[in-house]
Amino acid sequence: MKGLIAAGGHGSRLRPITFTLNKHLIPLANRPMIFHALDKMAEAGIKEVGININPGDKSIEAACGDGKKWKMKITYLEQKGGALGLAHIVKNAEKFIKKDDFVFYLGDNIILGGIKRFISKFEKEKLDCLLALSRVPDPERFGVPEIDDNGRIIRVVEKPSNPKSPFAVTGIYVYDNKIFEAVKNLKPSPRGELEISDAHQYLIDHGYKVGYEEITGWWKDTGKPGDLLEGNQLLLSDIQRDLDGVTSDPYVQIQGKVNIGKNSKILGRSYIRGPVTIGEGVIIRDSYVGPFTSIGNKTEISGAEVEHSIILDEADITCKKRIVDSIVGLNATVSDAHATLPSGNRLIIGENSIVEL
Ligand code: DAU
Repeated sequence: MKGLIAAGGHGSRLRPITFTLNKHLIPLANRPMIFHALDKMAEAGIKEVGININPGDKSIEAACGDGKKWKMKITYLEQKGGALGLAHIVKNAEKFIKKDDFVFYLGDNIILGGIKRFISKFEKEKLDCLLALSRVPDPERFGVPEIDDNGRIIRVVEKPSNPKSPFAVTGIYVYDNKIFEAVKNLKPSPRGELEISDAHQYLIDHGYKVGYEEITGWWKDTGKPGDLLEGNQLLLSDIQRDLDGVTSDPYVQIQGKVNIGKNSKILGRSYIRGPVTIGEGVIIRDSYVGPFTSIGNKTEISGAEVEHSIILDEADITCKKRIVDSIVGLNATVSDAHATLPSGNRLIIGENSIVEL
């Protein structure tokens, strides 16, 4: 069994963060999102993984390396022609997959629990394709299966306006070689992509065995900023308390599951209430950091309050208003409007930014 991870595309719904950072490298619980996909592959015993990247993108390789960290071999597969759809990724990966079965995992999907049970079901039932399904309140955002009275998938439609079931087809698929026949026979959809849902429909129409398994735990497609915060929250629920190597003043309070990297200082009357993860070389002075917050390396937070947020590396936060449900980019500054005169809100904001004052 091989693995294939999607880590290309434009991440346009996560701009401005994704103007300079590949979406799959956005940290959740202070680890690049794609590491979670690699963890799942490693846990399932997969030793050879291909990662689909945009042509010329070196950032994913710089972060994930050759795969030794996960005891696997990673091969980087440039998506020739660009982000032309999920079925195009599969087509492009045929030379890497060869005759093997494989798990295709969208690098922006986060799940609780392992993927081994999907592989086991695929093997036990001798399927050609297994789809992992999740019950969602808004199926129209996803690929949606239609399931008949015998529990068989009879149709899969991409982002239907009238969904025929409450399920999303999640970004975790197990395939054998029939999928290559399917993707070679597709035509681009109205949005110009080779759709993975159309490949699934091809398999169904040609009598191949398409099965499914429901994800009963948590699953998230981190397409939008709110999804990132929720993914971060989920992953933070799982961290352990670790304060080794942290320097703190006598009146500092650190409560619950908080993990802090080396050379970080928690100073003055700061109050950290977990679950919170704080990177290396961070300085927090006279500040409150509340539950479900991740703070990147070398960030400084002084006289501020931050909760349920993702703060990337080297940010500088000195604002007295409480910051909640926010994503603060690399090297960004959030300061108090009254720190300098004339008072008022001075903003330097990139394209597609969102600011609520
Ligand atoms: O997350 C589950 C959903 O993923 C499924 O329910 C849909 O059937 C499936 O089409 C897909 O929908 P999205 O609209 O969420 O796909 P998105 O364009 O966001 O791409 C998913 C991942 O694949 C993301 O990590 C970016 C990457 N990608 C995407 C395209 C189109 C590539 O690497 N190359 C591509 O050409």
